[in-house]
Amino acid sequence: MRTQVVIIGGGPSGLLLSQLLHVRGIESVVLERKTRDYVLSRIRAGVLERGLFDLMREAGIAGRMEREGYPHDGTLIAHEDGIFRIDFKELTGHTVMVYGQTEVTRDLYDAREKAGGAIEFEVEDVQIHDADSETPHVTFHRDGVEHRIDCDFVAGCDGFYGVSRQTIPTTVRREYEKTYPFGWLGILSETPPVSDELIYATSERGFALCSMRNRNLSRYYIQCNLSDKPEDWSDDAFWQELKRRLPQDVAEALVTGPSIEKSIAPLRSFVCEPMRWGRLFLCGDAAHIVPPTGAKGLNTAASDVHYLYNALQQFYEERDPEGIDRYSERALARVWKAERFSWWFSSLMHRFPEQNAFDIRMQRAELDFLESNRAAQAAMAENYVGLPY
Ligand code: FAD
Ligand code: DHB
Repeated sequence: MRTQVVIIGGGPSGLLLSQLLHVRGIESVVLERKTRDYVLSRIRAGVLERGLFDLMREAGIAGRMEREGYPHDGTLIAHEDGIFRIDFKELTGHTVMVYGQTEVTRDLYDAREKAGGAIEFEVEDVQIHDADSETPHVTFHRDGVEHRIDCDFVAGCDGFYGVSRQTIPTTVRREYEKTYPFGWLGILSETPPVSDELIYATSERGFALCSMRNRNLSRYYIQCNLSDKPEDWSDDAFWQELKRRLPQDVAEALVTGPSIEKSIAPLRSFVCEPMRWGRLFLCGDAAHIVPPTGAKGLNTAASDVHYLYNALQQFYEERDPEGIDRYSERALARVWKAERFSWWFSSLMHRFPEQNAFDIRMQRAELDFLESNRAAQAAMAENYVGLPY
């Protein structure tokens, strides 16, 4: 079998890339290790930057997001002595969209299916061959049978634990990593959100986030120990702890109910350089991870897709390799800025076990500055709504 681009991974990066390539008349095959239902059962990001919703429009899949998503003009930041608002619209002219990653992925699967796009599910043992030549190929197994696809390019969209990054020789690859000494315990509940806007809260008991998916579906997170397991936390214990970390009036207004999903995610900052090796291009979590504070994970994956699909279009339509040659440099320039913002916002809002009284005062002084200084708010808002591509 032969195609133009083999895309490894059927998460949001891989699906968005294949749909955008399809719109531009470029053929691809997506290889996904899991089933469609499994991919759609993963509850992850909830806030989309304007760059991602513009890409969804370009890909022709923005209809449901435009009808059912919730544009947000600002966000609230709570601390021990109060709560303040960052007005994105007023400070930047832009807003963000609350629309779950699960819904983006579902819209992409539906669009690929309608267009007759090739997605191979439940593939095993994917291997990339000759990526440093002009004639790469990919092999995989399904039901014990080996398959081979010849192609012009391979897009590695297979997340942090995928094979694509590992295919780049260690003599070429450089990795930068920081792990954080805590995780996020998240729950989804069929209850009305406590606030019209997201609340990022810091307290002496640690970080908390009040987010949402729609008028009757709330997403809440609390900072937890890395050794905690979701089953250690009853719903009741979760709600009690969340309330302790929120301003009193917010805690009193919180409507609680049974959780319909509960999971723990560790926090990590990670970047792999370069993001290209020969005819293999890394995209999204395969190349970089951010701690979730500020919702940059999915959005940074989308900016990679933007650079890559434009580069491939330039190659196929104009026979010009400039875009693919500069892909890694362009994508990484934006990735590092998203890394900085996520690291800064995480460092500001969490309690760290090694923190001393001075460190805590520094966090407090930085929050006071953010609360009172328009330039600081503008910098935060520009990063939150998404830096331009
Ligand atoms: P993924 O979504 O990881 O998709 C990769 C796909 O590749 C998967 O479907 C996987 O099954 C497949 N795959 C892997 N290996 C292979 C292989 N060898 N062969 C074939 N297929 C393979 N971001 C936020 O902004 N806010 C959040 O709240 C948030 N919460 C998160 C919670 C968790 C638990 C995790 C893990 C991430 C979270 N993120 C969040 C980050 C965000 O979800 C990711 O940045 C986003 O999913 C990246 O998309 P991706 O397509 O690059 O990678
Ligand atoms: C959500 C997750 C985030 O990491 C964030 O900063 C905002 C919202 C969410 O899952 O809703």
